[in-house]
Amino acid sequence: MAKRDILSVADFTPGEIEQLVKQAVKSKKEAWPQVLAGKSIVLLFEKPSLRTRMSFELAVHQLGGYAMYMSPEEVGLGKRESVPDVAHVLSRYVQGIVARTFQHRTLETLAEFSSIPVINALSDYEHPCQALADLTTIYERKGKLKGLNLAFVGDGNNVANSLLLACSMVGINFLIASPQEYSLKDNILMIANKYAEKSGSQIMLLEEPAMAAKDADVIYTDVWTSMGQEEEYEQRCIAFAEYQVNDKLLAYAKKDALVMHPLPAHHGEEVAVGIVDRYRSVIFDQAENRLHFQRTLLAELYK
Ligand code: CP
Ligand code: NVA
Repeated sequence: MAKRDILSVADFTPGEIEQLVKQAVKSKKEAWPQVLAGKSIVLLFEKPSLRTRMSFELAVHQLGGYAMYMSPEEVGLGKRESVPDVAHVLSRYVQGIVARTFQHRTLETLAEFSSIPVINALSDYEHPCQALADLTTIYERKGKLKGLNLAFVGDGNNVANSLLLACSMVGINFLIASPQEYSLKDNILMIANKYAEKSGSQIMLLEEPAMAAKDADVIYTDVWTSMGQEEEYEQRCIAFAEYQVNDKLLAYAKKDALVMHPLPAHHGEEVAVGIVDRYRSVIFDQAENRLHFQRTLLAELYK
């Protein structure tokens, strides 16, 4: 059977996404299939992580497998050793690669030269496991996906790209408010627009946070400066100063709106101090659901 890589939300069909999300919720109360018994998965990380590393390691263990972590210092992807050589070597040892890389291209090269599945654990372009775990959280809370309004306030980054694709596939309306130069790029919009035509999802690019937040069922934000962009920190703080999720902005959303954040959060920057604490129930559900979604994904890939 051909190996299956998960580098993008678009590596799933909309039907598969709905099925995985529902199964992830169910899996909390079921016995987990031991599909990884006798199998090993490597976690190859070029950047730090709390949630992604912990939730993938636990998911592998819960399915009976062995997880091995390679830290940023050890890997030296493309420096100590070429990416194709690393892919070939790992294919001789383990049955899957979960990789967090600076460049999305590195993931594509790993996938091209390995004979085992490669899963994107975050790149500069996408964070698919985050977005799909977040759909799981939204589904649990709202009992549906189609027809909801999700307002993304802030940077058109990796998390925004994956959420855009996920929402456009399942019929969630995606409204993003960003400064123009930090908005979503045309290539990802083209893909999302095609899905949206079929699902009925509305996609809107806005500059005014209040316009995106109006009648939102979900207000979503992420850091203004992602890993790898640290040199731009000061310039980004200035550009995004008006894009903070705070009480003034939340007043535009529906009364029962969820406030979501993938974490880590910068309290006092993209979220006002106190917001994460007030909405901790949903925000920490997001973190927990990373585990349930990823275990469900691995169970499906290795069944
Ligand atoms: N949300 C998320 O991916 O967190 P980590 O960077 O800690 O893995
Ligand atoms: N956009 C953030 C997400 C962290 C989970 C980053 O790439 O650093």
